Amino acid sequence: MRKIIVAGNWKMNNDLNESVLLINEIKKTLVNRDDVKVIVAPPFTALDRVSQLLSGTNIGLSAQNMCYEDSGAFTGAVSAKMLKSVGCEYVILGHSERRTLFGEKDAMINKKLKKAISEGITPIFCIGETLEERESGKMKSVIEEQIKNGLEGISEADFEGTIVAYEPVWAIGTGKTATPEQAQEVHAFIRNLLKEMYSENLAENTTIQYGGSVKPENAGELIGQKDIDGALVGGACLKADSFSNIVKNA
Ligand code: PGA
Repeated sequence: MRKIIVAGNWKMNNDLNESVLLINEIKKTLVNRDDVKVIVAPPFTALDRVSQLLSGTNIGLSAQNMCYEDSGAFTGAVSAKMLKSVGCEYVILGHSERRTLFGEKDAMINKKLKKAISEGITPIFCIGETLEERESGKMKSVIEEQIKNGLEGISEADFEGTIVAYEPVWAIGTGKTATPEQAQEVHAFIRNLLKEMYSENLAENTTIQYGGSVKPENAGELIGQKDIDGALVGGACLKADSFSNIVKNA
């Protein structure tokens, strides 16, 4: 059985003090569920402190990005080892904001995925189409390309445990959510692709999250779809009660 996973992507929000306040509030409001794994992804500057505050809980810690190199002259970059040293078990890779605002291409995301996997950090691998791609009928080919290029050279054994996040770019931060049916259609397509690329067993066991304007009001219906196994939440994870309510409604 695959796991339901709800992750909060804090993006470039919350300085150190604000991060401490938010994680403490989340700890207070979150009702533990054995069937839902909860992950938070604070900015780099708060990872160490949040990690300490998460000790003794079963909330997972994720980074929002990572470099594909181990060390050296890569100004501004953060390595997998550095993330592990502050207790990160997960890393978001290929987020659409990294792709569109920072020019990350599939080939770079592929290198990052391989590095994370080889270092034992679980990737949350993001994919999704723009509105233009959807409206021009290219949605499935865009998603297929992102998945195939992103996972190139990654074996079934290596892929195992990787979390996939389908985030239609037009739904991120816009308040426009894909309908449960629209999202389900793409999730089923992704699962089928994984089956073709790897195996039915792997496809059935891979958590595929939906992301894009998830809130407490729509989380239940979205995650209630057969192939939607959780959510990657942006805006609505910045308030402890709305994040906790998403987990409750998942
Ligand atoms: P949003 O962001 O929930 O604010 O739409 C989701 C994401 O980018 O992961």
